[in-house]
Amino acid sequence: MKITYYGHACLSIEINNTHILVDPFISGNEKASHIDINSLKADYIFITHAHQDHILDVEAIAKRTGAIIVSNYEIVVHYQNLGFKGHPMNHGGSWSFDFGNVKYANAIHTSSFPDGKYGGQPGGFIIEADKTIYIAGDTALTYDMKLIGNQFNLDLAILPIGDNFTMGVEDAIMASDFVKCDHIFGYHYDTFGYIEIDKPKAKAKFAAKNKTLALLDIGETIVVN
Ligand code: NI
Ligand code: MN
Repeated sequence: MKITYYGHACLSIEINNTHILVDPFISGNEKASHIDINSLKADYIFITHAHQDHILDVEAIAKRTGAIIVSNYEIVVHYQNLGFKGHPMNHGGSWSFDFGNVKYANAIHTSSFPDGKYGGQPGGFIIEADKTIYIAGDTALTYDMKLIGNQFNLDLAILPIGDNFTMGVEDAIMASDFVKCDHIFGYHYDTFGYIEIDKPKAKAKFAAKNKTLALLDIGETIVVN
């Protein structure tokens, strides 16, 4: 499994030859201006919730690639009504896809579309393939994360760390304890003024707890191991 970071909360997960694009928000992100959305591959587009900073480029990419949109019921129906392909899920539910198993997990946040339309309840994803990863989405720290630690053996936890709208560094460290994973991929930071972080300080705080915090450059790829 390989993961490429496209800035903010946008990731591409490559499992064998399947490409899963998560929360595409690139054309509106000044820091990702070197990424061309027309160059991105997507067999699936996973959406954690309906906020603009997670869905901005969904339509353009889904139109070009024919990707299947995977999200909560309300978000998937929204896109199906626009003519896109989708697979609806809801909290606690799992589905076996061709690339692996996916569970839609709880998140504490909100989920309205940019026009105010209801976007269901926000979530995260646990993907079990050659490696097992947790994509938290925008969320507060919540005791529900302990269930993930009890049910899965995670290789990587992708957690928001930018604070203000989501967990900050301290809560993300506690979240990594709850999900029982010491390898953390930080996202949802530095895109806007509200979520700027001190990166060396954040890494040091995780290191002090014997945890690793990966903070990738936009466009950088890592192999999960
Ligand atoms: Ni949000
Ligand atoms: Mn967000």
